[in-house]
Amino acid sequence: MTAELVRSGLPGAFPGRRCVCPGSYDPVTTGHLDVIHRAATLFDEVVVAVLSNPVKVPVFDLGERLELLRASLDGLDRVVVDAAPGGLLVDYCRRLGAVAVVKGLRSGTDFAYELPMALMNRYLSGLETVFLPGDPTLAHVSSSLAREIAVHGGNVTGLVPDVVVPRLLERLGPAPAG
Ligand code: PNS
Repeated sequence: MTAELVRSGLPGAFPGRRCVCPGSYDPVTTGHLDVIHRAATLFDEVVVAVLSNPVKVPVFDLGERLELLRASLDGLDRVVVDAAPGGLLVDYCRRLGAVAVVKGLRSGTDFAYELPMALMNRYLSGLETVFLPGDPTLAHVSSSLAREIAVHGGNVTGLVPDVVVPRLLERLGPAPAG
């Protein structure tokens, strides 16, 4: 558990219900921000947990992903960004006393990817998953496509938070001509 999370007083800082928004966040997108903001209207506290996905080699290291998330969520009340240690998500959620995982769904493809994990988490520990339908105006947004657009020097404004735009282009964009 990071210092920020401990400082927030977890577990039990807020007398209410805590949820976890887990993900790779490589990098955080405007779609992620939408889901996190909406989770904060439903729960008393939101823990945005950055996890390592063993099948993905990240472009941004863990420290960078945390930094970009914190900069993107600056000032948002009752939202804490944390690096989840290795291990199962259900164990992390149990330690936090979280009552649910929150995930956004852009499409049926997302649902097909997320449903088995939600069922497995519930089977393992009874942990519930709340699915929020993605904002249709952001249905085209994903970390992987934002990275691909950046590789080709395209415009990633609106796909990722403003603070992430220069960092993404700097990391992946084509070298300047000349
Ligand atoms: O943003 P991603 O990469 O789709 O997030 C997937 C993630 C990291 C949330 C998922 O792989 C996960 O929960 N990993 C933690 C390990 C775990 O509990 N695995 C079993 C899931 S049923």
